[in-house]
Amino acid sequence: MKIALGCDHGGIVLKEAVINAITDLGYEYIDCGTMTSDSVDYPDFATKVAKMVQDKKADKGVLMCGTGIGISIAANKYKGIRCAHITDVFQAEMCAEHNNANIIALGGRVSSPEEAYLFVQKYLSTQFAGGRHQLRLDKITNIENSQFK
Ligand code: RB5
Repeated sequence: MKIALGCDHGGIVLKEAVINAITDLGYEYIDCGTMTSDSVDYPDFATKVAKMVQDKKADKGVLMCGTGIGISIAANKYKGIRCAHITDVFQAEMCAEHNNANIIALGGRVSSPEEAYLFVQKYLSTQFAGGRHQLRLDKITNIENSQFK
């Protein structure tokens, strides 16, 4: 499994912990930046990771900004992206099991690196349950397909 990572200057504090969570599970990662704490615009990194997932160059993605909010809003503008903003382990589990989230978004000013490690490990080790949840995701896809993109 390959995981694409993207963050802004507000999320970069979580990057090392997120990489450790991925590699400790034996998965690979693709770092889409940012690489320094200089101020950048989070939509640019949401775009890079969303496109990696859309193009199937990555199986899933992890985004990080200050709150996790802006970068998740940006990622969810891309067709087929289901980006979940995560602030606890239960959400990390449910977004995989019920929502089949293909990206999660974390906040570097909200969660600690230790928490981020646990969120990513739970997210990546939880399977989508399918069944009635797939029917609901199909309804989301129908909404998406009814919009002009
Ligand atoms: C950047 O200062 C900050 O606005 C950004 O990281 C994020 O929190 C936006 O949602």
